[in-house]
Amino acid sequence: MKDQHILAKRLIPISLPSMGLEEWEALKEPIFSGWITQGPKVGEFEKLFAKRHNVKHALAVSNCTTALHLALVVLGIKQGDEVIVPAFTWVSTANAVEYCGATPVFCDVNIETFNIDIEQLKKKITSKTKAIIPVHLFGLCSDMDNVKAAAPGIPIVEDGACAAGSGYKGKPAGGLGDIGCFSFHPRKSITTGEGGMLTTNNDLLAEKLNMLRNHGASVSEEQRHHGPKPYILPDFNMVGYNYRMTDLQGALGIVQIKKLDAFIDERQKWADFYTNEFNSINWLRTPIVPKNFKHGWQSYVLIIDEKKSPMKRNNMMEYLQQQGISTRPGTHAVHMLEFYSKTYQIQPSDYPGAYSANEYSMSIPLHNKMKEEDFHYVVEQIKSIQ
Ligand SMILES: Cc1ncc(COP(=O)(O)O)c(C=O)c1O
Repeated sequence: MKDQHILAKRLIPISLPSMGLEEWEALKEPIFSGWITQGPKVGEFEKLFAKRHNVKHALAVSNCTTALHLALVVLGIKQGDEVIVPAFTWVSTANAVEYCGATPVFCDVNIETFNIDIEQLKKKITSKTKAIIPVHLFGLCSDMDNVKAAAPGIPIVEDGACAAGSGYKGKPAGGLGDIGCFSFHPRKSITTGEGGMLTTNNDLLAEKLNMLRNHGASVSEEQRHHGPKPYILPDFNMVGYNYRMTDLQGALGIVQIKKLDAFIDERQKWADFYTNEFNSINWLRTPIVPKNFKHGWQSYVLIIDEKKSPMKRNNMMEYLQQQGISTRPGTHAVHMLEFYSKTYQIQPSDYPGAYSANEYSMSIPLHNKMKEEDFHYVVEQIKSIQ
């Protein structure tokens, strides 16, 4: 009886940032030094991020959406250009294309991996295709060798919003295309509140991205303040943006990036636990991890087979919410959102993989603040659905 009372009061959020005293301590230095805009903490975070992701350059920005925007700006994407994006992703993958006045061309996803469908990608390439944005959704890398083979010579921007620490054929995300973009939103495995990172091995792109994130200034504020003539403003030879990360966020990032691998290992352990437990349920499809892929487990996303399941997906989410378990659809089918469906006259059925993922996916809690009993409780509650 007592146990039941405790269970009824349990509330497991879909995600929680894993922060504590170390992050709290790390904030002291920028607060007391007074240097809180982009400065030494951001610089140190970038170095650690670049090292972990085995890339030459990492440039911190305000979030992954601004990272995607800058990636397209630096590649010269403009009106009349087409950029291929998966139809099942967060809306900002497509929005970044719109910011440039270019046309997002949707490509269906493979319902097994939730990532871009290679066969359809080949058919979507035209003479106007100026970039492709494969998304490493939920922390599983897109099949990058085949993306590249489908589009020789076309620049590739990895949307690795969910993929810090993920890997593909032994290589980390972020160095698999021309530019990588990451997010540190609190639903990601490491967080700085809001925040993003650009990665590249190309020196020229890095140099331009560095300026573009800071209004197009030829030197950073830190360089100017510590230089011989801090009172002289720099020159601006391009139209840039203020997409900088703050040093408060940088300080958090330094602590978080050091925990990334431990976070992923723990998530891997519990993802395996879920998969083992759920494999016996014939109306659930557990996430697939192809050989040679290292999943980052930003999210653990199930597919509900409504032909066999005792409840429809939305009723199941409602039921689990009542049991104190937060769930969400994996993400959304962007071609079904009003702006995109109206602007480009797209029907839901035009992208059947994305449509199914939109209707039948269910993300369940998997994060580093969960306790062993939370994972057992989630399994117990899902198994009890009949
Ligand atoms: C696939 C994908 N791309 C881009 C973004 C945007 O990231 P941010 O919130 O940092 O702008 C997200 C955020 O959830 C995402 O999941």
